[in-house]
Amino acid sequence: MADNKNNYAVHVRDVSKTFGVGATAVPALKGVNFDAREGELLMIVGPSGCGKTTLLSAIAGTLQFDTGEIDVFGSALQKMSKNENSAFRRQNIGFIFQEFHLIPTLNAVENVSVPLLINGVSRAVAERKAHALLAQVGLEGRGHESPLNLSGGQQQRVAIARALVHEPRLIICDEPTSALDKENGARIMELLRQVARAPGRCVVVVTHDNRIFHHADRMTEMEDGRVARVAEINGGHSSSFIPN
Ligand SMILES: Nc1ncnc2c1ncn2[C@@H]1O[C@H](COP(=O)(O)OP(=O)(O)OP(=O)(O)O)[C@@H](O)[C@H]1O
Ligand SMILES: [Mg+2]
Repeated sequence: MADNKNNYAVHVRDVSKTFGVGATAVPALKGVNFDAREGELLMIVGPSGCGKTTLLSAIAGTLQFDTGEIDVFGSALQKMSKNENSAFRRQNIGFIFQEFHLIPTLNAVENVSVPLLINGVSRAVAERKAHALLAQVGLEGRGHESPLNLSGGQQQRVAIARALVHEPRLIICDEPTSALDKENGARIMELLRQVARAPGRCVVVVTHDNRIFHHADRMTEMEDGRVARVAEINGGHSSSFIPN
């Protein structure tokens, strides 16, 4: 069973991942070491192509990595079967994808309800929670809309509501404010901070958006498939990057 004595929400050790083989092989992760603690909002920054989305997908269990170890709340992902992995993800992880991945044939409320429905919650309860969360992300009264009729920023907020609705312990966000204006970006970051502070939970955010950096507890900088530096931001001693 899970052993989480160190209070790590995520503990990544020497993880590598290469896409493809031979001359066209792309080493995306080259021995990543990384951790995120319970109760923190951790940001990951770094140039395009440095492996941020690949790392998030490995942590979420949607991408098989080649070598190394990833523990999420003390459970070792590399030891899980495919079914165990899906069950674990369904219950413990909320993922906000870089490209939203909303289901176009479902309206906003139905999209947000999906994680609850697949966890066995009744439709009535699921839709009530979905409406409440849509209001929290600033989309009150828009629940009946198809994603096709929503702006990019509105779609992104539906995706955020969907990642939070089943109250997962770990929320993984790939560029969650990329389509949002300043006001909505700040609203979403306040919400994510509140979630991160709840007992036993953690939020990991990949971002290029320097308007939201001050919301981080710690900042991890990736370079070319590795973690280069980690810095304490809120409550830390320094606001500059320190070697990992
Ligand atoms: N499915 C895939 N097949 C082949 N190569 C891939 C695949 N996914 C990612 N890569 C490659 O792995 C490297 C890391 O990609 P990744 O998407 O993790 O970068 P990123 O840091 O998220 O970039 P961005 O900031 O642009 O989103 C890149 O060189 C990319 O081309
Ligand atoms: Mg990416």
